[in-house]
Amino acid sequence: MKHVIPIENKLATQVVNILDPILLDQLELYTHVKSAHWNLRDANFIVVHRFLDEVGGIVNESGDVIAERIRQLGAPVDAPSARFSSEDRLKLFPTGELTAHDALTGLCVSFVASIKGIREGIDATTSDAIDEPITADILTGIAEEYEKLLWMLDSHRVG
Ligand SMILES: [Fe+2]
Repeated sequence: MKHVIPIENKLATQVVNILDPILLDQLELYTHVKSAHWNLRDANFIVVHRFLDEVGGIVNESGDVIAERIRQLGAPVDAPSARFSSEDRLKLFPTGELTAHDALTGLCVSFVASIKGIREGIDATTSDAIDEPITADILTGIAEEYEKLLWMLDSHRVG
């Protein structure tokens, strides 16, 4: 791996290996949010539909930040669609038309799985074996945003 960041090659490789599954989760999560946005059918359609567009924008940006961190660490981004649909750690998202309650419930499950993976990534990048505070900080910022989104998704779920 070729990188300009002043850290050892071995550490860069270890961090890329931590970020790779987290990136796959974000790519899959984005498709879940967009599915919910598109397949929604509910009396509160417009409010939830627009909110989910905002959520999708944040997830898309988070995936971008992780992918670009992998590039900064000197590795190519290995994310063909076949990988993120088969290797990600999220459960399948419901198909067909969805009420707001069902769409939001499905997204809460997906966000919890994604946040769990990000939190594991934070633990892994702040361990004695692999100490990389900049990547840990990037992941912490994403987790902070996602935990707020999870609270908002859950709060819309009433009814
Ligand atoms: Fe849209």
